[in-house]
Amino acid sequence: MIRSLRGMNDTLELEDSARFSYFIQTATQIAKNYGFRFIETPQLEETALFKRSVGESSDIVGKEMYQFIDKGENDVCLRPEGTAGVVRAFVQNKYDRQETTQRLFYHGTMFRYERPQKGRLRQFHQFGCESFGESNVLEDASLILMVRDIFNALGINFTLKLNSLGDQNCMPQYRDKLVSFLDQHKAEICEDCQRRKETNPVRVLDCKNDKCQTIYANAPKLMQNLCEGCDNDFKTLTSLLDEHEMAYEIDTHLVRGLDYYSKTAFEFVSTEIGAQSAIAGGGRYDRLVEFLDGRPTPAIGFAIGIERLMELIKMPEVNREGYYFGAMDENAIAKVFKLGMKKRKSNKVTIGYKARNLKAHLKAADKANASYCAILGENELNNGTIWVKNLINKTESEIAQDEF
Ligand code: HAM
Repeated sequence: MIRSLRGMNDTLELEDSARFSYFIQTATQIAKNYGFRFIETPQLEETALFKRSVGESSDIVGKEMYQFIDKGENDVCLRPEGTAGVVRAFVQNKYDRQETTQRLFYHGTMFRYERPQKGRLRQFHQFGCESFGESNVLEDASLILMVRDIFNALGINFTLKLNSLGDQNCMPQYRDKLVSFLDQHKAEICEDCQRRKETNPVRVLDCKNDKCQTIYANAPKLMQNLCEGCDNDFKTLTSLLDEHEMAYEIDTHLVRGLDYYSKTAFEFVSTEIGAQSAIAGGGRYDRLVEFLDGRPTPAIGFAIGIERLMELIKMPEVNREGYYFGAMDENAIAKVFKLGMKKRKSNKVTIGYKARNLKAHLKAADKANASYCAILGENELNNGTIWVKNLINKTESEIAQDEF
């Protein structure tokens, strides 16, 4: 038997597929309420796109890409995340030349060659939003509140972690301070951090090694080294969140695993799903459009990891909906099909293709979660009527086919 690849799952079980669709439906509606419109980008892109955006020093580009040379000798890669492709599309289609704010949302499969475990897959789904053209910190607040709205609508508990990563004014100076601190502790930090010190020093701050973390507790804090602009924006953001009763924890070690961020960085975490606790992550990336050859455009976005939410989503009680049509006589099947197809224009309809007894049809209608079970037998066929049972209030009636 051929099996699916490790870390790549089917969404097949009834409950999972219902939750998945319910999530997409809920998140889509809320994204639209916030002025976002749908964008679809390819799953395969040039490898250079991710190297330039996510960054060569990131684990994603360094270790986790599904990268290969295609039959035309192109160096390509299955997308490990959605932002890079959306920015590429934004620039390629000259949206960077328009004055208006563009708000785009997407959902789809992402691929990372990570070690699979609970909540960590090699093929997983994200729902993401990217907003282009707004440097106003109101947009940062708006996006964070939007994630809250999505999680609240789904009955999901979370904690918001927040940080500012500074900009090109304050980040380089902070980086120098951090490197001098790391030089003093060179002998004590882990091998990965030795490497990060050379490639992207700020990434040491989210090292998972306990010994490193004890050392970094005394490292210079970026939050205390922000320039005036970044500091003001961060204060405005936190006061906006306070005003909207959105609780947050400031986490000065939250640096995110992708290189394109500046200023606001955030993560939503859940305490109910084990070690892989991040259920959404995002932040500002004011320089990425420019890095990908577009005109300088401020931008901010986030992505939610759909698989990690699956066991957290609280579904509404399933209400009965639509019709089930069945025939009790071979001769009635064609008529049942015709009536069912007519009702289908504006209702959810299930049609039984086999002649069966009433009890079997009622059972099938119940399984299909229909509100009504509509049956044609020999009598109804002769009388031009149809027998209908309302499965909610259990009443039965005989109705003329023309009026049904
Ligand atoms: P990210 O933090 O790498 O950000 O991923 C966002 C979310 O995707 C994570 O919080 C997690 O829920 C989910 N996720 C990541 N890796 C896996 C995995 N291997 N298995 C299951 N779920 C996973 C980004 O991807 C950015 N593009 C977010 C963003 C958009 N920033 C600005 N705009």
